[in-house]
Amino acid sequence: MEILLLGNELLRQKAEAVAEINEDIAKLAADMIEAMHEGKGVGLAGPQVGVMKRIFVMHAEGDIPRVFINPSIVGTSEEQVTYEEGCLSIPGMYTNVKRPGAVRVQAWNEKGRRFILDAEGLVARIIQHEYDHLEGILFIDRISEVKRNRISAKFEKHQRA
Ligand code: NI
Repeated sequence: MEILLLGNELLRQKAEAVAEINEDIAKLAADMIEAMHEGKGVGLAGPQVGVMKRIFVMHAEGDIPRVFINPSIVGTSEEQVTYEEGCLSIPGMYTNVKRPGAVRVQAWNEKGRRFILDAEGLVARIIQHEYDHLEGILFIDRISEVKRNRISAKFEKHQRA
């Protein structure tokens, strides 16, 4: 699977709901987990591999790989925390991003089973970052314009090198 990079328009589009959780979707999830591991990432969303569907996978250290299909964030903590983020679509770039420290998410797994997960720490962080991808939002949209421009310029330079 090819991972799309910053500048690709698909990363800026909203993904569509998965209509049916079938073998194809389960295969897609497995392929995405493999691509995430290969890229040494902790999360990967459909649009990042050019699949405009509401699906993402994650694998936080100390946790199992998880699949989220048609996720919705149904609750967030008032408390905001700052955490350094990176993205397989903007390789090599990292910056602090402020987001709610805990979230409650509802989704379906690749077997078609609905679940609700209360997450905090790194897991909550990854869920929010990946959920954003389904909305066409990147982590650099959540920092100041000055920082965003700096990262974008650095990334472009990095890509040309
Ligand atoms: Ni990302």
